Amino acid sequence: MSCELSETATPEDFARPRWVAQPDVRERARRLSQKFEEAYGRAPVGVWAAPGRANLMGEYVDFSGGMCLPFAHQYVTLTAAAPREDGVLNAQSMQDADESVADDRPQSTRISAVAPGAVPGWFGYVAGVAWGMNRVAHGESAHPVAVSELELAADFGADLMVDSTVPIGAGLASSAALECSVALALFSLNTGRDHPDDPQRRALARACIAAENHIVGANTGGLDQTASLRSHAGEILALDCRDFDVARLPADPALAGLTWLAVDTRAPHKLADGQYSSRRAECEAAAAVLGLPTLRDALPEHPTPDDAAAVLARFDRLLESGADLTEDREKTRLRLRHSMTEMLRSVQIAHEMRSDAPNWSRVGRLLVEGHESMRDDCQVTVPELDIAVDECLRAGALGAKVVGGGFGGSVIALVPLESVAGLAAAVQSCFARNGFREPLFLTLQPSEAGRRVL
Ligand code: GLA
Repeated sequence: MSCELSETATPEDFARPRWVAQPDVRERARRLSQKFEEAYGRAPVGVWAAPGRANLMGEYVDFSGGMCLPFAHQYVTLTAAAPREDGVLNAQSMQDADESVADDRPQSTRISAVAPGAVPGWFGYVAGVAWGMNRVAHGESAHPVAVSELELAADFGADLMVDSTVPIGAGLASSAALECSVALALFSLNTGRDHPDDPQRRALARACIAAENHIVGANTGGLDQTASLRSHAGEILALDCRDFDVARLPADPALAGLTWLAVDTRAPHKLADGQYSSRRAECEAAAAVLGLPTLRDALPEHPTPDDAAAVLARFDRLLESGADLTEDREKTRLRLRHSMTEMLRSVQIAHEMRSDAPNWSRVGRLLVEGHESMRDDCQVTVPELDIAVDECLRAGALGAKVVGGGFGGSVIALVPLESVAGLAAAVQSCFARNGFREPLFLTLQPSEAGRRVL
């Protein structure tokens, strides 16, 4: 169903859209500090915050070395922390024990006992970071340069209390925000330094990725953690996932009377259920057929649509001449097509954003193409996402697309400021008529990366 016919709408379908309040980070930090004191009987040394992310293009290509265009938004996860000297990590969460967030009981482990499979639930994201920091400190393979400042001594420990303003399960990277706020807290406790430089932030992101990949067991690609730790207020990141180098794109849609709006569809969203991993496996299988380390290697430095088409033709020829393929042929070809066109769209949007006067209509069209590719080739959307995009476009958005891993979560739309209220009302009533859960609306501002806030 879609929203083209409205005869069946009832008055309650048009109830006021629900907006997620802007976070008052300092107030939340003060409250968290008090809760910490009540729980642990002493004041925290400080409170650190790390944001979630949006992503304008480059979905499901980070693990293939593609370019992503994320920004950190203003919703953060906070970690209050104080050091211990017994090698123990304690953590408590102020989040309610609702939905997928598991439970809010105190969690505890010796850092030396953290290992794949040993720490279940949300505490895996926390304890995994300590494990990841030691791994990166010793130069694990994906981050070959050892960064000794990340090493936690055998007696290093910490008491932590966390709270979050990032909507959970909304595709806005609440997991990365948790990991990254813990990483900044542990780094500061360990080194006494509150302002890690970019190489240290890159290494901390690596530690968070290791936590997610190995301790939590989600085979994600590093987009979220990099955005959370290395973004800049008012800017988009051009993140080159070949080496995790970042360039800064200062394009500001507000100058053209536009804003970024997220619609959290509240459709159930879960990455750890094997769908994400199977997409990644199919992309890796396509690279293997092409005889390349990653799919990014299939394209030249400055790719064109012809280059993307040529890669697909080569893939077909290789299969016809008997190349081995470990995954389903049809699905692998679709993932390859998604990866190639998505990498191209990232380059095209980045190019637009480097210009003095970005063509926002073109950016909007590319966002829509990105969504269609996520729907038809990557196959990670659900009806709520597709209908939200259609309705955003009908209500005046220049473009809209699913953000992040899909299977629920949010759509990000580029919207003229004067259309925001009407668009939210239209999407709200459209969801009601389709019998979907009530969506939530957020305006997203490109915001600063993780930092100490108290
Ligand atoms: C999730 C993962 C990221 C990335 C996106 C899709 O957010 O954590 O690494 O792959 O999905 O772009």
